[in-house]
Amino acid sequence: MTVAGRLAEIADLGRDAERGGYSRHLFDASDAPLRAWFGTSAAALGLQVDEDLDANLWAWWMPQPGAVRQNAIATGSHLDSVPGGGAFDGPLGVAGAFEAVAQLQGGGFAPARPIVVCAFAEEEGSRFGLPCLGTRLLTGAADAASALARVDAAGVTLAQAWRESGRDPAQVGPDPERLGRFAAFVELHVEQGRDLEDRGVPVSTASAIIPHGRWRLEITGEGNHAGTTTMDRRADPVVAFGGAVQAVREVAVSRMPASRGTIGKAQIIPGGTNVIASRVVAWMDLRASTDDDVREQHARTIERIRAAVQAEGCTLEVHEESFSARVDFDDALTARITAALEPEFGPVPAIPTGAGHDAGILSAVLPTAMIFVRNPTGVSHAPGEDARDEDCEAGARALAATLRMLAGP
Ligand code: GLV
Ligand code: MN
Ligand code: MN
Ligand code: MN
Repeated sequence: MTVAGRLAEIADLGRDAERGGYSRHLFDASDAPLRAWFGTSAAALGLQVDEDLDANLWAWWMPQPGAVRQNAIATGSHLDSVPGGGAFDGPLGVAGAFEAVAQLQGGGFAPARPIVVCAFAEEEGSRFGLPCLGTRLLTGAADAASALARVDAAGVTLAQAWRESGRDPAQVGPDPERLGRFAAFVELHVEQGRDLEDRGVPVSTASAIIPHGRWRLEITGEGNHAGTTTMDRRADPVVAFGGAVQAVREVAVSRMPASRGTIGKAQIIPGGTNVIASRVVAWMDLRASTDDDVREQHARTIERIRAAVQAEGCTLEVHEESFSARVDFDDALTARITAALEPEFGPVPAIPTGAGHDAGILSAVLPTAMIFVRNPTGVSHAPGEDARDEDCEAGARALAATLRMLAGP
């Protein structure tokens, strides 16, 4: 098969007719068929599938029947998406991993240790707000009880959703025993910028993930009638929110080029044309080069937002939903991968990324590296995300060469 052929098998799952692209979230209607596809793809390669207690999927290629599940090399990514996301962010790393295994099997490669393809749960955090949910639970980077208390947009807790999916929330939590079975993790991923396109190279490794925080802002004002309330008697949280949007942009711009500040999601409550809102809830995403830089960017931004909120006679609450510290990937592992790829691909750059990944969470407990595939549009988290078929194949070949090097005799 090909990577493109594998992706075509799931092309109809979780399509979002309204936003375009894909909306695939934890335990939604696309979740079970995506998991079934994972199982079918694994079975076709003779891999043994199991799901851990944190809803992550694992497909084991054992060196021989009865071999112990130790010293394994894991590779994979996620199958969920942001709302209206692209076809590649996540699925490329899973389809590419199956394709790499297929290539190794086709070439008669006999692994000396298990190779495991994985798909992690809710990497984007689109339903419950916590990115890399599956790997955070698995590693203990997130506390299970507080994660299970999170609610989705409909007010359903993660614990409820977990139970309704037929899983046991009481079992959720860290699994050091499972993690102890792995010697390394490598994630193949579409690049989420234009760096490789500009350099004219199909694949790279990753040097680092810049740190990233998410905060929920709750701006409360005074709900009232749009026609009878004169302009001098308003505490309109939407006006304060306008100041907040401006503050996020201006502080990030003042800290260019490293800082990024985004508000990509907001709710106006109650949301009526002839109603002065009583509350705005908005989600703010801030990123910069170091953890301290993100904290400082946050402090300056909140100071500006608070001023805008007070000027409108409203009040502000700020809740941190997640913080992902800077990740510097394993230099020794990345150097070995680079050496394995250069005979076929020529110079392979190591590039930093502004996007979060399960590889970042796993790097705290395992030697971890990433391989990026060129994206001709440079767009991601939107339907315009792209990767050429031949570059997807190059990614699978690069991953196969990496697995051969890591799992070979
Ligand atoms: C996840 O992809 C993120 O970087 O937000
Ligand atoms: Mn993503
Ligand atoms: Mn991703
Ligand atoms: Mn991500």
